[in-house]
Amino acid sequence: MANGSDLMEKLVSLCKRRGFIFQSSEIYGGTGSVWDYGPLGVELKRNVKDAWWRSMVHERDDVEGIDAAILMHPRVWEASGHVDGFTDPLVECRNCHRRFRADNPDIRWTNQCPVCGTKEAFGEPRMFNLMFKTFMGPVESQAAVVYLRPETAQGIFVNFQNVLTSTRQRIPFGIAQIGKAFRNEITPGNFTFRTREFEQMEMQFFVEPGTDDEWFEYWKTSRMEWVKSLGIRPEKLRFHEHAPEDLAHYAKKAYDIEYEFPFGWNEIEGIHNRTDFDLGRHQEYSGKKLEYVDPVDRDKRYIPYVVETSIGADRVTLAVLADAYREEEVEGEVRVVLGLHPRLAPIKVAVLPLVKKDGLPEIAEQIQRELRRSAIPSFYDDSGSIGKRYRRQDEAGTPFAVTVDGQTLEDGTVTIRDRDTLRQERIDQSRVVEYVRERIR
Ligand code: GAP
Repeated sequence: MANGSDLMEKLVSLCKRRGFIFQSSEIYGGTGSVWDYGPLGVELKRNVKDAWWRSMVHERDDVEGIDAAILMHPRVWEASGHVDGFTDPLVECRNCHRRFRADNPDIRWTNQCPVCGTKEAFGEPRMFNLMFKTFMGPVESQAAVVYLRPETAQGIFVNFQNVLTSTRQRIPFGIAQIGKAFRNEITPGNFTFRTREFEQMEMQFFVEPGTDDEWFEYWKTSRMEWVKSLGIRPEKLRFHEHAPEDLAHYAKKAYDIEYEFPFGWNEIEGIHNRTDFDLGRHQEYSGKKLEYVDPVDRDKRYIPYVVETSIGADRVTLAVLADAYREEEVEGEVRVVLGLHPRLAPIKVAVLPLVKKDGLPEIAEQIQRELRRSAIPSFYDDSGSIGKRYRRQDEAGTPFAVTVDGQTLEDGTVTIRDRDTLRQERIDQSRVVEYVRERIR
C-alpha cells in the first residue's frame, strides 16, 4: 500500500504510464520543471478549470470573465511592484555551484550544502527577480524588454475600467480569469507543484473600502467550499494565515488554503486583501483615473479595495490526483484506483463487450455512438480479460463501466459497474446515456 514519498513516486509513474502528465521535451532529456499534459491529463485539468469557471462566472451575476494577454506593457510590472519586489534571496554553493533559496530553514540554519555536503557553503544572499524577461520586436535592447506575466491578476487590474464601462456591473463585483503565468523559481519541484510555467485561476473582487474585511471572510469560506466540492477529503484541507512579515508586498491580510500533499502541508490557493494597492499604483503610473463613482451618490468616489482569490490550476489538479490515488486489495490482488469525482474524471464511462463475437461488439459500438453524440467522453475496450479491462479503467479514474454480455442479447440490458463500490446493476441499454449523465453533473 502506498504512503508518504512512495505515493508521489507511484503517482508520477501512473501519470506518465496512463497519459496524464509527461516531462516537457522528454526526448531531449527534459526541461527543468516544465510539464506537458497528455490525453487524460488535459481532460482532467480542463474539467477542473471548467468547474472553477462555472462556479465563479456562470453561476454568479456579479463576476465577469476576461482573457488578457500574457505580454503586457513593462510599466505594469513597475507599478505592480514586481520589478523591485518580486524577488527571492538566492545563495550558491561555493563548491558545487547549486543554487538555493536562502530563506529555506535548512539552508539558513546549517549553512551546509544539501547536495554536496560542503560546510560553510554559502555567502551573503543576493536578491533574484523571478520574472522571465524577453524582448518585444527585433532589437534586443533594454527599451524592448517585456516580461512573461508572473501572475494573471495584473491583466484584470488594467482592464478594470474597460469591464466596468462595457458591462452593467456596479461595485461590489468581480473579474475572473484563467491563464498562464511564469516564474523563474529557484527551487521548483515536487512534480507539478512548483513549476516555472503554470496556470492560474484568479478572481479580483472590487469592493467599497470598509467592506473589505467582510468580503474577505465571505470569499475565504466560499473558496474552501469550492475546493471541497472537487471531492478532496476535508480532513486534508486547512487554512493557514500569513504572519505580517510573510505577507506579499500588496497584501493587508492573506490566508492560504493548504492541502496535505504526500510531501507535507502546502498552499493550493491564496485569498488576499490587496487593498487599493494595485489600482492606486496603476492610477499613479498610468496617469489614468481608476476611481469608482457611485452611480447613486455621484459625490462618492473611491479607489476600490480588492479581495483576490488565486488558485493554481496545475497545483489543485495535483491535489485532486494525490487525493484520489489509492491501492486496495480485491480478491487477493492489489487494484490501483483513481477515485476522481465523476465530474472531473477524464473518461466518464468505459464500454466493454464481454467477448468479441455473437453480435456483442455491434451493440457496444452502438452504445458508444450514443454516448459520443451526447458528448460524454467514453472509451471502448474489447482486449484482454474483463477483469484486466476493469483495472485499466480504475487506474484512469473512469467512474462507470458498461458491459455488454450474453443477457444483453436476450433482454437488452447491460451491466453498469461502479468504480468505487464495485457494485454492478443491470439497466436497459437505452438508459446508459441518461444514467451516466445524471451522475457526472
Ligand atoms: N495573484 C496572486 C498570486 O499570484 P501566489 O500565492 O503567488 O499569489 C497563487 O500564487 C497560486 O498560484 C498559488 O496558490 C499556487 O496554486 C499557484 N502557483 C504559484 N506559483 C506557482 C508555481 N511556481 N507553480 C505552480 N503553481 C503556482
